[in-house]
Amino acid sequence: MAKLLVNGGRRLSGELSIHGAKNSALPLLAAAILCQGKTVIHNCPDLSDVDAAFRILRHLGCGVRRENDMVVIDAESIETSEIPTTLMREMRSSIVFLGAIAARTGRAKLSFPGGCELGPRPIDLHLAALKKLGLTIEEDHGFLDCRSDVPLRGADVIFPISSVGATENVMLAASLAKGTTTIHNAAREPEICDLAAFLNACGADIRGAGESIVEIRGVKTLTGCEYTVMPDRIAAATYMAAAAVTGGELDLLNVVPEHVKPIVPVFEEAGCRLRFWGNNLTIQAPARLSSMHHVVTGVFPGFPTDAQPTTMAMAAVARGNSMFVETIFENRFKQVGELARLGAKIKVDGRVAVVEGVEKLSGAPVMATDLRGGASLVIAALAAEGTTSIDEIHHIDRGYERMEETLCAVGADIQRV
Ligand code: UD1
Repeated sequence: MAKLLVNGGRRLSGELSIHGAKNSALPLLAAAILCQGKTVIHNCPDLSDVDAAFRILRHLGCGVRRENDMVVIDAESIETSEIPTTLMREMRSSIVFLGAIAARTGRAKLSFPGGCELGPRPIDLHLAALKKLGLTIEEDHGFLDCRSDVPLRGADVIFPISSVGATENVMLAASLAKGTTTIHNAAREPEICDLAAFLNACGADIRGAGESIVEIRGVKTLTGCEYTVMPDRIAAATYMAAAAVTGGELDLLNVVPEHVKPIVPVFEEAGCRLRFWGNNLTIQAPARLSSMHHVVTGVFPGFPTDAQPTTMAMAAVARGNSMFVETIFENRFKQVGELARLGAKIKVDGRVAVVEGVEKLSGAPVMATDLRGGASLVIAALAAEGTTSIDEIHHIDRGYERMEETLCAVGADIQRV
């Protein structure tokens, strides 16, 4: 099993480029199923979750070819509507394939997606919404057996809570439905806008993405298009945290200012100076960070839950106490026990964590517990004295393109062994 050895205490400086967004690339790859002909996706990140999506596409009968950061998908013929359990379990977001497969073929058989990484991650909103569009869903021994007439039919979908994945699933399914679908309380995350822009480029008619009401007028066919995935705002937040904990200065290229705005006040409160120039960002960190009094995660444009663990690693070495309130997922403080091994002082009570900043962390063996929790260990290890070995780094590879190479290029000392 590969692990990362991080020798901490090195100040980061220089320039790095932010890769394409995982959470945007995955629904785009699912969307390619809806298209007759070839789809070309640029800036597609090289991640294990993206590889898992490729395996699903190939299993369904699509051609998938990658050349550097360009991926060509040929969905001319779909040979099966079934995704086997092994593929569904590889990636938690595989459920977003449901809407696309059903809309294209009128059938879908797949198992429930992988386990519960951040607490229970139900898919009830996905299923209820797709049923409204005319999909019959039978749950049978861990499988979802779905059938519908093709095309599905447009409907009013009212979400009781905002869900990124469920909004995406409905957008995918409704694009080829007969009539208009209106999503109320749609998620407003930038990834929703990226998916809408992609689908519209393929010939869909989606209006209001980024707002809480999204209207999708179904069209008869979608054709492939050429599209560039937006930059990964969570990777940007992670590398900003890397600069922050090392008292460093980094130029991050390919950052959409609007996408990272929700995290800016927190970094400024910690004493970092941020300057946007075009689609780039310079971050300058103080020798020691100040505490961040109150970080509350929320739906966009709130503070992203995915940036909470790496920001907590900053708080671990800041002067004073910081409080984190997690409002999206029930079990999103899994990094806390591992950060404690490095000397962090963090108390958790339900959805609230209080971090008492310490002057120094010290290297220790730790284990990535999930994707962003794993990234938070790398951040903490960069600030720690001595060597930290991080196990179970397959979690980190799900969402960061060769993280250690990216960080070493700006002065970190990390080896993959
Ligand atoms: C997506 C992101 C993930 C991010 C999250 C919140 C991808 C691949 N993943 O996950 O990185 O942390 O948005 O920004 O894009 N819920 C239900 N029933 C459902 C669906 C969701 O109760 O059917 C709940 C969840 O348990 C959670 C909340 O809704 O408490 C928000 O989840 P959701 O927005 O759906 O997250 P994902 O789409 O899974």
